[in-house]
Amino acid sequence: MNPLAEQLNENLKSGNIHVYEMLSTLGKEIYFPKEGILSQSAEATAGAKKYNATIGIATENGGPMHLAAIQETLSAYKPQDLYPYAPPAGKPELRTVWREKMLRENPTVADKHFGNPVVTNALTHGLSIVADLFADEGDAIIYPDKNWENYELTFGIRRHGVIVNYPLFTEDMKFNSQGLREALLSQKDKGKAIVILNFPNNPTGYTPGVKEGDEIVAAVVEAAEAGINVVVVTDDAYFGLFFEESLSESLFGKLAGRHPRILPVKVDGATKEEYVWGFRVGFITFAAEDAGVLTALEQKTMGIIRATVSSGAHPSQTFVLQALKSPEFEAQKAEKFKVMKGRANKVKSLLDSGKYGDVWEYYPFNSGYFMCLKLKMVNADELRQHLIREYGVGTIALGDTDLRIAFSCIAEENLEDLFDIVYKGVLDLQG
Ligand SMILES: Cc1ncc(COP(=O)(O)O)c(C=O)c1O
Repeated sequence: MNPLAEQLNENLKSGNIHVYEMLSTLGKEIYFPKEGILSQSAEATAGAKKYNATIGIATENGGPMHLAAIQETLSAYKPQDLYPYAPPAGKPELRTVWREKMLRENPTVADKHFGNPVVTNALTHGLSIVADLFADEGDAIIYPDKNWENYELTFGIRRHGVIVNYPLFTEDMKFNSQGLREALLSQKDKGKAIVILNFPNNPTGYTPGVKEGDEIVAAVVEAAEAGINVVVVTDDAYFGLFFEESLSESLFGKLAGRHPRILPVKVDGATKEEYVWGFRVGFITFAAEDAGVLTALEQKTMGIIRATVSSGAHPSQTFVLQALKSPEFEAQKAEKFKVMKGRANKVKSLLDSGKYGDVWEYYPFNSGYFMCLKLKMVNADELRQHLIREYGVGTIALGDTDLRIAFSCIAEENLEDLFDIVYKGVLDLQG
């Protein structure tokens, strides 16, 4: 084992032995090189005032070399904010500003110990870092039966975790914290589990209420008290799009500092919140009581980043930072929130109007980009194919009964037509 990895592991063991135990083999072995090119180059940036002949970029006239053909379309930005490599952990100011945003939007974390967000290549990358650091072959990865399908590739296929699903909803359509509790407690023999919480949920658009949130936290605490080490990932991809009464903070805050056997990890980012899907800017943030644990986890995260993508794209980080600092940012976001909420409300009023009879139910939704119909009479994929072929309407079929509809990409005035067509499609198939 590399001595730097050993040192990080010692710091974890002395800070919180359970966090050390949660690491995968890769998580134990990874470290961020202190004496490699990056750190020598950082040292040179600070001290080499005459010639800095360190890192592999090209310079000219005191700045990064660049082509006019690129710069002329990006002239609002300084070349040094676009072309050089961003640090592996991300632009320092972006990390600070994101942390401040997190504190503003999640007052519960204010008195908790949590690290500086590390920039990722958006949320998928943040999730894959969690998988790399913590998931070993056979580890249980616990999340509900209605979920973002990519978890299976990230945690199952790539890391050979064992996916443990539980029904998302109880019979009275509340979050099934009892199901989560049972799935967790069934890992007592392994002594370890990775839980993924995703609210607003993809695909249903559901965010639990405050009481359900407390029940979720209680289920995780009970597992920790039973001796199970639990890595809890909050996938906050759709954070902020809360349209009705529900939790409006990430459960990361309530989980932080709750138990030494619980490691809360927040995965979030600009992708869906700031409507910049292709920019690929996300963050991963750990909560731990011990400062040495936070530093070791950050170093190991940087090690994974260095080993995989080396560093995230610099221009996107600059664009997002610029937006977050803009005085117009809050007002523009509020405007888009209004549009999204208007669409969600419209969908609900259409579905509650009675005009579609009894051909479907819908899963509760109060947030995010999506809602999900539960079809009663026809197969979801048959309907999906029929809707494309006959009406040019695209939807997502999930299993036999569920049809996911992204109201996020349909203008409010077209929603009635869309649902009328889906209804017509059901009637066609029923003959
Ligand atoms: C629940 C959830 N998590 C994560 C992601 C991935 O986000 P990103 O595009 O930032 O990687 C998505 C994207 O659809 C998602 O729905």
